[in-house]
Amino acid sequence: MVTLSQWVEIVVSTSITVRFLQELVDAREQERIILTSSTYQFRGATYTSSFMAKINDLIAFFFAAVTLSNLLGRARVTEAYDTVPLVPGYYGESCPVAEKIVREQVKIAIRKNPRIAASLLRLHFHDCFVMGCDASVLLDNGVGVASEKDAGPNRNSLRGFDVVDKTKSLLEKACPGTVSCADLLAIAARDAVNLRGGPYWKVELGRRDSLTASQTGANQYIPSPNSTLEMLVANFAVQGLSPTDLVVLSGSHTIGRSRCLSFKQRIYAGAGEEEYYYDRHRRYTGFRRILRSICPRSTKRDNALVPLDFMTSTRFDNAYFRNVLQGKGLLQTDNVLITEDTEGGVSKLVWRFAADQELFFREFPVSIVKMGRINPLVGEVGEIRRNCRALNAW
Ligand code: HEM
Repeated sequence: MVTLSQWVEIVVSTSITVRFLQELVDAREQERIILTSSTYQFRGATYTSSFMAKINDLIAFFFAAVTLSNLLGRARVTEAYDTVPLVPGYYGESCPVAEKIVREQVKIAIRKNPRIAASLLRLHFHDCFVMGCDASVLLDNGVGVASEKDAGPNRNSLRGFDVVDKTKSLLEKACPGTVSCADLLAIAARDAVNLRGGPYWKVELGRRDSLTASQTGANQYIPSPNSTLEMLVANFAVQGLSPTDLVVLSGSHTIGRSRCLSFKQRIYAGAGEEEYYYDRHRRYTGFRRILRSICPRSTKRDNALVPLDFMTSTRFDNAYFRNVLQGKGLLQTDNVLITEDTEGGVSKLVWRFAADQELFFREFPVSIVKMGRINPLVGEVGEIRRNCRALNAW
């Protein structure tokens, strides 16, 4: 995908090339003496007009080649996509109001509770990492289906199902049996990010909904917050996502909250000499003291909530990366991006995004669109559910 700024670069570089060549042609024009309408004299030689037409064709061909190579070259900067059958504007004819309905509902829900933006974004992630982006995460328990909602990473944690239900019922009224729940999640994630101040992107659509769910898959493929960097990289690789995607998408933790349960292990582990030596600049020590006061060692406040980004928890920005650099990422998996990277590529990206929000905003759409391409159901496979919680056959 070529981003807006890349388009600008392409247009600028192409126009510079065109201007340069135009000047060359103008210079020749000045030297050229027209003898007759069909004959030219240039630097002492005589040419026929058909010969000059060929030269013009060659120049035009050169312009086209420069433009094309610019396009291809620039597109490769952000990794080429595999070919997938999803397209932006998929519902343009079948349900032109679809994206408008979703955005409006996300807007209403955020107005009531800003955190819902984070919850909707996370739903799309938890959907895509288990069997692909097919709305399997939305299915309740039913005939032949053990709901993913009951899997360890999701239980008492995933939210936003009521917003999905309301939005889906409006979509069904406007365009019955047309817009899939999987696409609804992808659109809602985009609008959630954008309405909290993050970037906007064209969502690729055309997914269908699964006929089953995988609770074991949810336990296996959704990364644990106690993972090492090596485990995270491997986990993302299974989904066809790169370490760059891992860093970029971890930036989603710029909004939303976590329960104490998800990071408690970290704040009570290794408080001995070793940890203090490791945290020799004491950046984490004060932060940990605060976290321990919110989340005591006993289990009684395991469901208490702490912002993932303690600076600007409702705004989608690059503060997450600055927190991580200060040792103040909330989850262990946030901090390993900087503490366990022996090769330097991952931590360098954290530094770059911390310094340049625009860069983060350019890369986020690339990675999330890529995530949205994980194993979509298309054609005759799956179905368009009428109710996102249930199979049509139930
Ligand atoms: C890199 C591996 C990741 C791990 C280990 C991880 C883990 C977690 C955990 C443990 C929570 C808190 C859940 C709770 O305590 O209830 C959380 C919240 C969240 N995660 Fe991740 N996550 C990861 C990647 C992602 C990605 C790729 C996205 C989005 C594309 C994402 C979006 C979010 C959001 C927005 C929240 C806040 C949800 C809310 O407030 O309801 N996470 N994550």
